Amino acid sequence: MDKPVKPRGINHLVLNVRDIEESHKFWTEIVGFEMVGQLTPRPERPNPPKMRFYSGTRSDGSHHHHDVALVENKNLPEPPKEWSMFGVPVAVNHIAITMPSREAWMEHLAYLQKKGVKFDRRVEHGMTHSLYIHDPNGYGVEFVYDLPREVWQDDIEGALNYVKVLPTEGAEALEDRVEGVPTFRQPAPAK
Ligand SMILES: [Fe+2]
Repeated sequence: MDKPVKPRGINHLVLNVRDIEESHKFWTEIVGFEMVGQLTPRPERPNPPKMRFYSGTRSDGSHHHHDVALVENKNLPEPPKEWSMFGVPVAVNHIAITMPSREAWMEHLAYLQKKGVKFDRRVEHGMTHSLYIHDPNGYGVEFVYDLPREVWQDDIEGALNYVKVLPTEGAEALEDRVEGVPTFRQPAPAK
């Protein structure tokens, strides 16, 4: 073996959070994940860290054992008041959450707006349509639906570099176009 095995992808993500109750509320009521377990005192570990585990739902209705876990760490610095994708001094830039479908994604945006959640950024990328908000620790959270593979598979770099910034307030913030979305079918020209 002279090279690493290529992994399938990310299994789960563990986030340090300042206040586990505050973050629990965010990850369940705003993101929509379900808590599936937590560390509890056991003979071998009578005083476990405050750690909770969360899952979304797969397309077949099943759960992964956990997609995200939270660990309380009161020593974390306070996050900046305003979130932006580039420039805030927080280690985690953003975590992207796959929504089940375009319709589900749109329904979730309407839910968040109704709840008064600030939309930090709304964009079309070449491979996803995205909304960015942020969690109580200043970690960005991106809700996406994936565009069909044939839209981006021939030119991933083109799709990644494509960005169309959209309104974040009012009815316009909930609009999503299907017609006219660019496709990235040709490989980028060699430089
Ligand atoms: Fe992203």
